[in-house]
Amino acid sequence: MNPFEITTYKEYQDSYENAKNNPERFWDDIASHYSWQKKWSKTLNWDFKGPKISWFEDGKLNITENCLDRHLKKNGESTALIWEPNNPKEPELRMSYYELHSAVCRFANVLKSRGIKKGDRVAIYMPMIPELTIGVLACARIGAIHSVVFAGFSSQALTDRINDSTCCAVLTSDGMYRGAKNLAIKTTVDEALKSCPSVKTVVVVKRDNRNIQWTHGRDIWHHEAVENISDFCPAEAMDSEDVLFILYTSGSTGKPKGVVHTCGGYMVYAGYSFKNVFQYKAGDIYWCTADVGWVTGHSYIIYGPLLNCATTLMFEGIPTWPTASRFWEICDKYSVNQFYTAPTAIRSLMALGNKWVEGFSLKNLKVIGSVGEPINKEAWDWYDKMIGKSNCPIVDTWWQTETGGIMISGLGNLSEQKPTFAGKPLPGIEPVLLDINGREILDDGIEGHLCVKFPWPSMLRTIYGNHQRCKDVYFSNYDGYYFTGDGAKREEGMYRIIGRVDDVINVSGHRFGTAEIENAINSSTLVTESAVVGYPHAIKGQGIYAFISLEAGDHNEIDVNNSIISAVVGSIGHIAKPDIIQIAPGLPKTRSGKIMRRILRKIAEGNTKDMGDTSTLLDPSVIDSLIKGKK
Ligand code: WT7
Repeated sequence: MNPFEITTYKEYQDSYENAKNNPERFWDDIASHYSWQKKWSKTLNWDFKGPKISWFEDGKLNITENCLDRHLKKNGESTALIWEPNNPKEPELRMSYYELHSAVCRFANVLKSRGIKKGDRVAIYMPMIPELTIGVLACARIGAIHSVVFAGFSSQALTDRINDSTCCAVLTSDGMYRGAKNLAIKTTVDEALKSCPSVKTVVVVKRDNRNIQWTHGRDIWHHEAVENISDFCPAEAMDSEDVLFILYTSGSTGKPKGVVHTCGGYMVYAGYSFKNVFQYKAGDIYWCTADVGWVTGHSYIIYGPLLNCATTLMFEGIPTWPTASRFWEICDKYSVNQFYTAPTAIRSLMALGNKWVEGFSLKNLKVIGSVGEPINKEAWDWYDKMIGKSNCPIVDTWWQTETGGIMISGLGNLSEQKPTFAGKPLPGIEPVLLDINGREILDDGIEGHLCVKFPWPSMLRTIYGNHQRCKDVYFSNYDGYYFTGDGAKREEGMYRIIGRVDDVINVSGHRFGTAEIENAINSSTLVTESAVVGYPHAIKGQGIYAFISLEAGDHNEIDVNNSIISAVVGSIGHIAKPDIIQIAPGLPKTRSGKIMRRILRKIAEGNTKDMGDTSTLLDPSVIDSLIKGKK
């Protein structure tokens, strides 16, 4: 068998055993599938205490050579990228591997002409247009570190991320389309850059042709810059352990963390996991609906597919505009074979009724996927029946920004399925469930903390600029294990992810730290204190419930709500707006002044029969008034 391609369940089992028994040999074989400028000398060095992990030491490579150049000879004419615009009336765009290679090299030369070089950080704040993919690859081409920031984040959030990693450039567009909305994205960048002294270059892609402000010397038009520039750009020789990208994600405390991924290991795992989870075959049309602003877009719109010479579809719009048939229209238009989306999208489309799906054939679908949050049984069944026509395996893929690639999932049609269970680990991945004493749970059906006990190539290496935080958050809870932050249980070797066990809320598959939202809320002058918890939300999975205590005096509730919402939108973005705001006379605190979130969670869930032990509360009467005031 070709070790890179798993084609039967038996091969999966064999690969799993091989990887477990001799991980270095296993990953050597997988890595040999790629082209390296220089072969590595040591496959793996690791210590979870440091943590210090390195894969394919001394190897030299460039991921774009593997995504592009490697395919040109045989498959230069095949379609690399299909771009479907927001508005179905606008024409789509198709780029062959030749064309994508040329566009990436030109963009890379533009970056070079601005003095950007290996190791420099470049922020990318763009809508879902082809130049986003091209820009990401252009950075990788010259060894610049990309830091993509989802274009729904506020200017403040963009400032914070740019400054945390002192980016020297921002790639953006004039405006953007998203459903019925036409947004002024360059204005957000201009606002953000008022406090970012490190940024010397802004490359602006023309998307909606609006009037924008221009900072001479700093801003350049993408279309002008790429016009008279060579499309020859040698790929920078990168060490396996050089940084490929930074991607910010929320944790339970403080500001977002810049998760760091490196060139060699990330490449090896992104390509391998894509190929096998989606069972991609030459000629298939693959579509992942995520935004490139999240890790799903990095690994499974850009890198994973292109490493496999796949055709990857990129969609600018949203599932419900102009109608709730938009996804299915696109599936039929391009005869999509693999479709990968999030439970929140499935639930919102399910809620709008079957009529939006009926009439679409979806007959080319071979594998449908889910990612970002646990998928509930109702959504799983609807996805299976209405989209998969009861004839398509569902791959429920569990992973994280920090893991770089899919860790637990079925492999296309090879694996047994169990609704709401993500399934079994990929070869090379060794998950364990730990009890609160750090002992491995060996029995079935018992919930524990999901950890991983052996390194895998695409695991995070550090948190940008703060290695201690990386150690504290992921490697200190349980000695010798990577801690995921998730609770899970196992049945017959298959894992069911239950949800976060830390103060992280998963809203529509997006992570927010409760402290991050509270800090934003507390910036409102009307607020003295706040506590944010998650609660079950029919569409979003979890909603954001904010308990607020106010400064003394009379307050109009509408003013209070507006002030809180604008504080959150301003500091994080629309995506973090609280769903419910409850003004509370006081928050439940222990005698030592700690807010008891457990109680607030129960109130937010409407589950107030058994409040558990409340004996340490300073003022137990707070509970009754909170229950009475529940929204
Ligand atoms: C968290 C990671 C990496 C994909 C996008 C989200 C939750 C992710 C699943 C799944 C249940 C899931 C976990 C995880 N999650 N996939 N298939 N089933 N939960 O990336 O923002 O880094 O969030 O998303 O809680 O820890 P992320």
